Amino acid sequence: MRGTRVDPAVSEVLFDRETIEARVRQLGRAITEDYRGKDLLLIGVLKGAIFFIADLMRELDIACEVDFIAISSYGSSTDSSGVVRILKDLDSSIEGRHVLVVEDIIDSGLTLSYLVRTLEARAPASLEVCALLTKPARRQTQVSCRYVGFEIPAKYVIGYGLDFSQHFRNLPYIGVLRDDLAAEVLGTPSA
Ligand code: IMP
Ligand code: MG
Repeated sequence: MRGTRVDPAVSEVLFDRETIEARVRQLGRAITEDYRGKDLLLIGVLKGAIFFIADLMRELDIACEVDFIAISSYGSSTDSSGVVRILKDLDSSIEGRHVLVVEDIIDSGLTLSYLVRTLEARAPASLEVCALLTKPARRQTQVSCRYVGFEIPAKYVIGYGLDFSQHFRNLPYIGVLRDDLAAEVLGTPSA
């Protein structure tokens, strides 16, 4: 990795800056092909998707708009209940729009499936999901995701927007959180 110091909270770097960049470029090309001639509305899920959506958008060679939604999971501290509270709603209506939800990571899938159902009720012309990361082994509910950056094992990861107690979002790579730190949070994902 090009001269990047690895944070002591990270036990293993999964994807360095260049690898993420290359994958985001591929996703951008695929989305560009699929949505050519359509006016795309990207919906970024705050806060984890901030860098991903900013980079992805710049790889799109089509007309597009961006909006953001912030959500948080109800339920106990150890389990994503799948019931989602909207902390910040979209600025405008998605009725009749081609919507692509841009998410950082799909873990149990509960949060995303609730969000998708909520947005579908608003009658978009189409609704698809693009997730940078997915942990298939942790899935508790089926959620269809058209674009995936990388599949990862059931480990807690930080960096490139992903946090541990709101920190480490600024790491330019994606890494596995050290086991002793992860023990505190496994099963307690934050929005
Ligand atoms: P789910 O409802 O279990 O799929 O939880 C999804 C949300 O939890 C994601 O959008 C993330 O905000 C957060 N999350 C899940 N796994 C991780 C992780 O490994 N690192 C950081 N955040 C995570
Ligand atoms: Mg999230």
